[in-house]
Amino acid sequence: MKTITLTTLREMKRIGEKIACLTAYDASFARLLDEAGVELLMVGDSLGMVIQGYDSTLPVTVADMIYHTRNVRRGARRAFVVTDMPFMSYASPAQAIGNAARILQEGGAQMVKLEGGAWLAETVRELSVRGIPVCAHLGLLPQSVHQLGGYRVQGRDPASAQTLLDDAKSLEEAGASLLLLESVPAALAADITRHATAPVIGIGAGPQTDAQILVLYDLLGITEKRPKFSKDFQAGEAGIREAVHAYIKAVKLGAFPAAEHTFS
Ligand code: KIV
Repeated sequence: MKTITLTTLREMKRIGEKIACLTAYDASFARLLDEAGVELLMVGDSLGMVIQGYDSTLPVTVADMIYHTRNVRRGARRAFVVTDMPFMSYASPAQAIGNAARILQEGGAQMVKLEGGAWLAETVRELSVRGIPVCAHLGLLPQSVHQLGGYRVQGRDPASAQTLLDDAKSLEEAGASLLLLESVPAALAADITRHATAPVIGIGAGPQTDAQILVLYDLLGITEKRPKFSKDFQAGEAGIREAVHAYIKAVKLGAFPAAEHTFS
C-alpha cells in the first residue's frame, strides 16, 4: 500500500486522474474512507456544524481541530490528511505559525488549510518556508459568512472573478501547494485550474477541477440542509461503504458533479 503524498497528488493532476477527497472527523470513518480509496481526508472545521451542532464554523477552536485530527490520523493509513485552521487562529503570520505547528505536531496533520485571498500571501509564505504545507481556500469562505452576508456563490461578476484568479495566482506564488475553490461558477473554476500548477480541489465548483470534495455527512444524506452542489450518495445504495464507493467512482469518471450540482 503506497501512502498518498503531495507528490502523488501533483502527479495525479499531471496525468489527469481525478482526486477523490472527503471530510472526516473520527477514526472509524477515516478507516472506512481510506480503505475505500479516498485519497485526501479533510478534517474540516465544518465539524463545528455537523459534529458540534453550531450554526456556523466560527466557534471551532484549535484544540477541537487537534483532537479530531488525531482521531482521523489513527484511522487513516494511506490517505493524505489536511486540517482546517479555525477562525482567528491565523490572524497574523506569527499566530499562524504557532497554531499550524501544533496542528502538525500534536494532531498529526500533513497540511493545513486557510481561508482567504491575497492578503494571506505573507502567512502562506511564512508557513511554507518553515516546511508547513498549505492549502488555500478561496471563493465562499464559511469563516467570513457574516461579512459575506450568507453562504452565497462567489465570483459571478467579472471584477470578483478576476480577483479570484489573481488571489489564486498570488497564493500559489507564495507557496500554497493545494487550492480549494468553494461555490464558484464552473467556468471560473476551470480557468483557475488550468492556470494553476498546484492541484485544485472543488466543492460547488463544477466538474473541471482536479479534485472533488464533499462534507461526509452531506454525502451520507444526514445533514439537515444539503447544499445544491452536494449529493446524497446513500440514496439507492445498500450502505455507507457502497455510498462512498459510488462517490469515488463518480468523481473518477467525471460524472460528479453533474449539471444540477454546478453554478454558472
Ligand atoms: O470545513 C470543511 O469541511 C471545508 C469543506 C469545504 C471541505 O472546508
